Amino acid sequence: MQNEPLLQLKNVSVHYGGVHALDGVDIDIHEGELVALMGPNGAGKSTVLKAIFGITPLHAGHIIWRGEKVIPVPHKMARKGVAFVPQGRRVFQSLTVEENLDIGGIIVKDKDERHARKHDVMELFPVLKRKRNMKSGMLSGGEQQMVALARGLMIDPKVLLLDEPSLGLAPKIVKEVFEKIREINEVKHTAIIVVEHNIRSILDIAQTAYVLDKGKIAVGGDADVIAKSDILGKVFLGK
Ligand SMILES: Nc1ncnc2c1ncn2[C@@H]1O[C@H](COP(=O)(O)OP(=O)(O)OP(=O)(O)O)[C@@H](O)[C@H]1O
Ligand SMILES: [Mg+2]
Repeated sequence: MQNEPLLQLKNVSVHYGGVHALDGVDIDIHEGELVALMGPNGAGKSTVLKAIFGITPLHAGHIIWRGEKVIPVPHKMARKGVAFVPQGRRVFQSLTVEENLDIGGIIVKDKDERHARKHDVMELFPVLKRKRNMKSGMLSGGEQQMVALARGLMIDPKVLLLDEPSLGLAPKIVKEVFEKIREINEVKHTAIIVVEHNIRSILDIAQTAYVLDKGKIAVGGDADVIAKSDILGKVFLGK
């Protein structure tokens, strides 16, 4: 991919007090690219997503959007077209599926536009269309993850940030979630960064992969090449 990246992290460092969670991280995301972000617990994966979305301040380095430095703040990043789906399927349990989607689309001011988005998103998730009037807390874990994904899509994002979308789901449901992620990327051409522990499944669908270790990029590049290399064993198993 030769064109200018949509989003870049340049030499990004994040400190939480004395903890150096990220240390000089460089990551590029191009339009329509599906990027896997992997690494052991505590490597700094969630922090990468939080730094992009402006949830955690940068100690050093820059976030670059279409070639220009930005100071990330969540509502501004959302307006640019960045959607963040955090770890842990945080849906509003007492609200219906449809109400959850409405909240996802809250920055879409035009009512007709918001309605059209909701229609689009429900086409992508037939199960949510069927259960649109159900309280989200009544849904299964997999369905709640679909609500969280669908809610992120309400802003019609250019980049979707997904933090461990398969966590705690049964293998069959994990497969469905991955198929949805692939579909979103292929059909809507949305760039996606997915943090995942399910390494084989994510490398199967990602074009590019980064492996984080102790706040640094251990390796980044073509997902197929990384899948075949011994870097994963080295980082995860200390081989
Ligand atoms: N709010 C915080 N305050 C202090 N330390 C934090 C905070 N958030 C994260 N950390 C620390 O920063 C480091 C990176 O955390 P991060 O959550 O980014 O890791 P991760 O790769 O997402 O891990 P996991 O796979 O367990 O989700 C860890 O050492 C963690 O303990
Ligand atoms: Mg995490």
